[in-house]
Amino acid sequence: MLDTASNRPELPPEIARRRTFAIISHPDAGKTTLTEKFLLYGGAIQMAGQVRAKGEARRTRSDFMKMEQDRGISVSASAMSFDFGKYRFNLVDTPGHSDFSEDTYRTLTAVDAAVMVIDGAKGVESQTQKLFEVCRLRDLPILTFCNKMDRESRDTFDIIDEIQENLAIDVTPASWPIGMGRDFLGCYDLLNDRLELMDRADRNVVAETVEINGLDDPKLAQHVPAHMLEKFLEEVEMARELLPTLDPQSVLEGHMTPIWFGSAINSFGVQELMQGIADYGPEPQPQQASPRAIAPEETKVAGFVFKVQANMDPKHRDRVAFMRLASGHFKRGMKLTHVRSKKPMAVSNPVLFLASDRELAEEAWAGDIIGIPNHGQLRIGDTLTEGEMIRATGIPSFAPELLQGVRAGDPMKAKHLEKALMQFAEEGAAKVFKPNIGSGFIVGVVGALQFEVLASRIEQEYGLPVRFEASQFTSARWIIGAKDEVEKLVNANKQHIAHDNDGDPVFLTRLQWDIDRVERDYPALKLSATKEMM
Ligand code: G4P
Repeated sequence: MLDTASNRPELPPEIARRRTFAIISHPDAGKTTLTEKFLLYGGAIQMAGQVRAKGEARRTRSDFMKMEQDRGISVSASAMSFDFGKYRFNLVDTPGHSDFSEDTYRTLTAVDAAVMVIDGAKGVESQTQKLFEVCRLRDLPILTFCNKMDRESRDTFDIIDEIQENLAIDVTPASWPIGMGRDFLGCYDLLNDRLELMDRADRNVVAETVEINGLDDPKLAQHVPAHMLEKFLEEVEMARELLPTLDPQSVLEGHMTPIWFGSAINSFGVQELMQGIADYGPEPQPQQASPRAIAPEETKVAGFVFKVQANMDPKHRDRVAFMRLASGHFKRGMKLTHVRSKKPMAVSNPVLFLASDRELAEEAWAGDIIGIPNHGQLRIGDTLTEGEMIRATGIPSFAPELLQGVRAGDPMKAKHLEKALMQFAEEGAAKVFKPNIGSGFIVGVVGALQFEVLASRIEQEYGLPVRFEASQFTSARWIIGAKDEVEKLVNANKQHIAHDNDGDPVFLTRLQWDIDRVERDYPALKLSATKEMM
C-alpha cells in the first residue's frame, strides 16, 4: 500500500489489486508490440502476434478500417483486462494519431496512470510530448519504457536528460542497459539487484535472470565481458551520483518517472515493467464529481462513460458505451440510475474486454472498464449510480479547430444524414452544429483526418455518400450564461448562431475580433472553448 501521504483509507483487496492505465507513445515507438507482450504475460493470449492478426481480420470489415490500416494509425480505442500475478491490469488503448487528441484526452480521464513508450534511438518525439502534457494536466503518474534497445540507440544519459529537460519531470532509472544495438546484452535491474540477459534466439522467451549481490559481486564478470562491465559500472556510479533515487510517493504524484530499458519485440524488459506497474502504479483513485468526489471504496456503484463506440458490429446498429467504474462492486443485471435522465437502467449485458474477445461481465470493481451495449441512451460524460444524483466531472469536449459544411450526395437523403451526424456527435467523433439560418450542418473536428474518417464511415455504415465543403466559419464557442442574456446575444447575432447536438447554443465566427466583441458587449456571458460533457 503506497498511497500513504494522501491519507486515503485502505481499499478492499479486490479494488487495491487493480491497475488501470493507458500507453502513450509516438507512432512506431512500439505500443502495439508492447501491448501484445503485456497480454502474453497476462496469459490473455497464447501467442504473440495475435493482437495484430486479430486487428487485420477486423480491419478487413470496412474501408474505414482499411484506411486505418493504410495509414498505420489506430483510430478506435478499446480496453483490455488481464491478470499479472495477484494484480488485475486494465489497459485502455489510446489512439496514437494527433488528429484524435480529444478522444485520447477523454481516455486519459478513465485511467490512473500512463506508460510512456519511447524509441531509444529517437527519444521524446512530438506526439509523446503532446500526450505527456495531457497527463500532466491531471498529474497522472507516468512509468517510462525505453524501447528498441536491441537497435543502435542514444546514450542512456542523453535519453534521461532529454526526458527531464523536455518534459520537466524527474527521471530515475529502474534498470540500466548494458551495451546497445548488436552488443546489447541486457539490463541490470537496479531495484532488485538482478542481471537480466536478453535471449536473441527466441523472441518470446523470458530473459534469463541472474541474482547479483550488489555491483561488486564477481558473478557480474562471469556474464558481462570486461570492456562492457567497466563502462557499465562507471555509468551506474555516475547515475547514482547524478540522478534522483526512486521515491514512490513522487511517482504517484506525477513528479517522477521511473524508466525501464528493453526491447518489446524481444520480450525483454516487459515483465520488469509490469512488475513496476504493479509496485509503483496507483490503485484506483477517487473520481472528481459534483456535488462531491466519488471514492473507490464506497460500497455503492458509480461509474462514468468516457467513450462511446457505435457500429462495432455493422450488422447490428449497436453502440457500446465504455464506462469506468469509479466505486463499488458491480454485478450483472444491476439496476442503475442514469443521472442525466434520472431514469433507471438495467445493465443486463455488460461486456468485459478480456484481451482476445468481448466477454459478458458477471462482476466488476472500482477501477474496471466495462462496455455497456445500448441504443443511444448513453453519452460521453454520463454518470450511472445506485440512485444518488452525482455527476462525474472533468470530461471535457473541446471546441473544434476545423469546421466544414456537409451535404448528402443525394439531397433526398438529408434526413438520413442528420441521423448519422447525430450519432457520430454522440459518439464524440465530431461536433455537429445546426446553424439557425439556412439548411445543412456544420461539422467540427480537432484534426483534418477526422473529416475523411467521417465521410468514409457515413458511406460505409449508412450507405450515404457525403461531401464536405468549406464553411464560412472557422471557430466555434459555446455560449455560457443566464438564459435571458444568452437569448439577447442569440437574437442580435442570428447569422452567427447554431445549436449543437444537445441543443446548446454556439457562437460561430471566422474572426477572433467577433469573439472579443461579444465578450466586451456581454460581460455576463462566457464564450467557452470547452464544454463539460453531461
Ligand atoms: P506502434 O504501435 O507504437 O506504432 O508501434 P509497433 O508496436 O507497431 O512497432 C513499430 C515497429 O517497431 C514495428 O516494426 C515493430 O516490429 C518494431 N519494434 C517494436 N519493438 C521493437 C524492438 O524492441 N526492437 C526492434 N528492433 N523493433 C521493434 P514494423 O517493421 O513497422 O512492423 P512489423 O513488420 O515488424 O510488424
